[in-house]
Amino acid sequence: MIRGAAATASRFAAGNLGRARASISASAPTFRSFSTAEKIPSFHQADGDDAPVPAAPECPPVVAPVNEFSGISAKAGTPSPWAVFDAWGINSMEGKMDPVDPEDMSRLESSAVAIPFNDEERSSLPNETEILSSYDRLLQHRSMVHFGYPYNLMFNHAELYDFMKYSINNLGDPFVPSNYGIHSRQFECAVIDFFARLWGMPKDEHWGYVTTCGTEGNLHGILLARERLPDGILYSSRETHYSIFKAARYYRMDAKSIPTLPTGEIDYGALEHEISQNMDRPVIMNVNIGTTVKGAVDSLDRILRILTTLGVPRERFHVHCDGALFAMMMPFVEYGPEISFKKPIDSIAVSGHKMLGCPMPCGVTIARKQHVKLVEQRIDYLNSVDTTIMGSRNGQAPLYMWYSLRKKGIEGIKQDVIHCMETARYLRDTLTTAGITCRLNDLSSTVVLERPVCDAFVKRWQLACEEDIAHVVVMPNITREKIDLFVDELNKVIEEKGRMKKRGTGSPLAALTSDSWGVGSFVQPEVGDFKSDAKK
Ligand SMILES: Cc1ncc(COP(=O)(O)O)c(C=O)c1O
Repeated sequence: MIRGAAATASRFAAGNLGRARASISASAPTFRSFSTAEKIPSFHQADGDDAPVPAAPECPPVVAPVNEFSGISAKAGTPSPWAVFDAWGINSMEGKMDPVDPEDMSRLESSAVAIPFNDEERSSLPNETEILSSYDRLLQHRSMVHFGYPYNLMFNHAELYDFMKYSINNLGDPFVPSNYGIHSRQFECAVIDFFARLWGMPKDEHWGYVTTCGTEGNLHGILLARERLPDGILYSSRETHYSIFKAARYYRMDAKSIPTLPTGEIDYGALEHEISQNMDRPVIMNVNIGTTVKGAVDSLDRILRILTTLGVPRERFHVHCDGALFAMMMPFVEYGPEISFKKPIDSIAVSGHKMLGCPMPCGVTIARKQHVKLVEQRIDYLNSVDTTIMGSRNGQAPLYMWYSLRKKGIEGIKQDVIHCMETARYLRDTLTTAGITCRLNDLSSTVVLERPVCDAFVKRWQLACEEDIAHVVVMPNITREKIDLFVDELNKVIEEKGRMKKRGTGSPLAALTSDSWGVGSFVQPEVGDFKSDAKK
C-alpha cells in the first residue's frame, strides 16, 4: 500500500513537473518539484478525520487540462517565475479525483506521530521519513482545495531553502543592530522601507518591523496608541478582527464596539455619535482596511472627516489601520481609496502570509518614528533597543518577504491583485447564476455566501463560517477552473441536503440580502421550491 502510494506520487510528479517546465521561461530559477501535486481528492472521502461523511456526489471529471497561468504576464496572477503555472492547481487533475490515501492519514494519527521514550515504543511506530512523506501528500491535497482563508499559496522560495541551516534571529530593533551577527536586518529594513514608501510615509519619518503575524502588528499599533494617549477610548467596528479588542483587553483600555452596516463597514453615524458623547477623552481609532469575514473596507477619509467635523485636534486622536489582507491590495486597486501616511494616521499593520504569500505566518507593522520613542528601552544584553513585542524575532521571515517583493515587483503584485479581484467577481457571478445567495463587497476579493449545510463540504474546502454565512477569499492560487469545480460540488450538496435558512432577521445571512449591499442580482435564501423543503 505504501509503495503503491509512493509510486502514484512519482508518476504524478513526472507528469506535473513536465507540464510545469514546459511553461516556464528558460531564465526561471530551478523549481521545487511539486512532486505529488496530484489529483484533487474526491469529495466523499476527502479526509479520514472528517466526522460523518455524507454520501455526496463525486466531483465531476475534469474535461480538459487547464493552464490559467500560461506565462503571459497580463493574464497571470503574477509574472514572478514560480507562478507561471498553477502550482497547486487542477492542471494536474486527470479524470476522476483521488481521495487522500487512508494509509497516509493513519500515519498522521496522534498515536503514530507520538514521540517514543524508548526503542520498544519506537519499534511499533512508522519511521520519520514515512510520516513526513504522508504529511507532504496530505498538505498538497489540502493546498489544492483551500478556499476559506486569505492565504496566497502561490509561491516558490526554493532559492531560500539553503538558509534554513542558519539560526537567523533579528532580536532587538531592526534599525539598531545587536551583537548577534546571524541576522537578516538588511532584508528586514528593505521590506520596511518598501511598505513605508508604498503607504506614502515621508522618508526618515518611518519606523517598523517584521512581525510574527498581523495580530502582532495590531498589538503593537494599539500599544503605541495607548502610550501616546493613555486616557483614550478605543473605537472599532464590531466586525473587527478579534486581535484589536484583544489588545484592549491586554492593555486594560476602554473600548467601544461600533455597529456595522450590512456590508460590514463601520456605521459612520453610530461612530460619530459615540465619539461626540465622549469628547472629554482622546480617540484611538482602529480602521479596518478589510474586515475578516466580509472584506469590508472602512472609509478612512470618512472617519477622518468625522474627527474633523467634531473638532477633535490631531494631538487628541490616534489612528491605527488594520490592513491584514487589504492594505497591501488597496494601492493597486484602480480608483481605490488611498491608505497613506500623508493623512493623519499613525500605524498600519499587514500580514505577510496573506497577499504576499510567505510560507510562514509573518507580517509588517509601520508606524511614525516619534511614537516608538514612547516604548523604547535600551537593553545592554542585546546591545540594541527593545521596541518590539517579541524578543527573539524570526530572521527567516524578512528574507522570504524580501524575496517575494523583489521577485514580484510592483507590477507583479498588481497582477496578483487584478487576478484576485477579477476572479472574485467570476465566483460571485457563477454562484449567483447557480442560485446561491452571495455578495462581494466593492474593493474586496472576499465572496460571502450562504453557509453550506454540509460540514464535510465545509471541511473539504476549508471554508471559514460565521453563524449562517461562509466566505471564500479569492487569492492568487484560486483559478476559474477550481471555482467551477467548487460551485458544481456545492450545487450537488444543495440538491441533496438543502440550503441554510436565515437564523433570524438580524443574522449575517439576513444582512446578505439587504439592499445596502446594492440591489444587483442576488438570490434570496428561503425562496423557491427547494428539494430539501419538499423532502420534509
Ligand atoms: C482584518 C484582520 N486583521 C487581523 C488579522 C490577524 O492576522 P494574522 O492571522 O496574521 O495574525 C486577520 C486575520 O485573518 C484579519 O482578517
